[in-house]
Amino acid sequence: MKNFDLNSIRKDFPTLFQSVNGKPLVYLDNAATTHKPQVVLDAISDYYRNFNANPHRGAHYLGVTATDMYENARETVQKFVNAKSTREIIFTKNASEALNLIAYSYGMSLIEEGDEIVICISEHHSNIVPWQQVAKHKKATLKYLYINPSFTLDMDEVYSKITDKTKLVSIAQMSNVLGTIYPVKEIAEYAHGMGAKIVVDAAQSIPHMKVDVQDINADFMVFSGHKMLGPMGIGVLYGKEELLEMMPPFLMGGDMIEYVEEQSTTYAQLPQKFEAGTPNVGGAVGLAAAIGYLKELGIEEIHKHERKLTSYALSRLKELPYVKVYGPEQLDQRGAVISFHMDGCHPHDVASIVDTYGVALRAGHHCAQPLMKYLQAPATSRVSFYFYNTINEVDILIDSLKQVRKWLGHGA
Ligand SMILES: Cc1ncc(COP(=O)(O)O)c(C=O)c1O
Repeated sequence: MKNFDLNSIRKDFPTLFQSVNGKPLVYLDNAATTHKPQVVLDAISDYYRNFNANPHRGAHYLGVTATDMYENARETVQKFVNAKSTREIIFTKNASEALNLIAYSYGMSLIEEGDEIVICISEHHSNIVPWQQVAKHKKATLKYLYINPSFTLDMDEVYSKITDKTKLVSIAQMSNVLGTIYPVKEIAEYAHGMGAKIVVDAAQSIPHMKVDVQDINADFMVFSGHKMLGPMGIGVLYGKEELLEMMPPFLMGGDMIEYVEEQSTTYAQLPQKFEAGTPNVGGAVGLAAAIGYLKELGIEEIHKHERKLTSYALSRLKELPYVKVYGPEQLDQRGAVISFHMDGCHPHDVASIVDTYGVALRAGHHCAQPLMKYLQAPATSRVSFYFYNTINEVDILIDSLKQVRKWLGHGA
């Protein structure tokens, strides 16, 4: 286990050491994507420099080694999420593609007219739009769980919306806007009692907390490599083997077949059945290196530090009477994402002005327009921390927010 020494941890991330607009970069957009430690950059570079071949084809040395590297990465992911078998781990492009795979394969073939799909109002568009398509094409109903004024979910809402008509519940474990952590294990238990399956969108949770698919009893779980130190272009779908077995392939082509006749095809076994075409071996190798790094650091230590940052940031934001935070106050109900609005300041102006102080934060609807409409907030500013952020960076953020007010003629 690595020592949680922030100075030495930060040195592992070359991107963090740069000036932006003449100021040291303060990167607070980690819910969008995280920076990559040197070990991840090295693992990707090593793969392309020394191996670079198509896995599962060709008997030559490079091809065999690429296959081993790719399949070892799959095993690393399997252990990380505590799946029973590597057959349950499908590599995708990102969380969005994984959700589309479930929607198009499971949803389009197993959801029927009159069935209900339940999602939460705070979902990312990636966990809304595919279900709208399924509902439309299968004449099913898409129902929403609504959050309460504390930005959390009442179990009574869950009990009233999930019924024996519900075939599928799809919910993010952590909201990318509110930071709310939803009780997915309890929701899974209730959904199963009603005969429904549950999809857990772990895109925002798995970089920050232990996610055990067997403990949650998730039927499916998805995440993206790039939000947890890995490269862009690699994501994961976990699915229970018996479900993946009964589902048709999503994408067709090379690598996912057993035999191809002129007019018909039989498909490869899991997981290849769902991985058409040349896969992103470099991405998988990079993701495995990222998991190795996170494990060495310890997910508990990561959580502890992020909690400290979140608590400090929330208390400092409270000092600013013109700031309204959209998200739970209690630390055990939330992660390290803080959305807020500053009175009299458009979020896009906030983002542009703090950028001149080197601070990178996000402004907009955060790919969650239904939530924004529900909150009656057309846009928010959002800061999101990762374990390499510092208390000093929170102070810089607060100072730069005060400057925004001045710039926009409101006084500090
Ligand atoms: C909760 C959640 N789900 C899904 C996604 C989609 O991730 P990607 O764009 O990597 O597919 C995001 C991205 O921000 C997210 O925050």
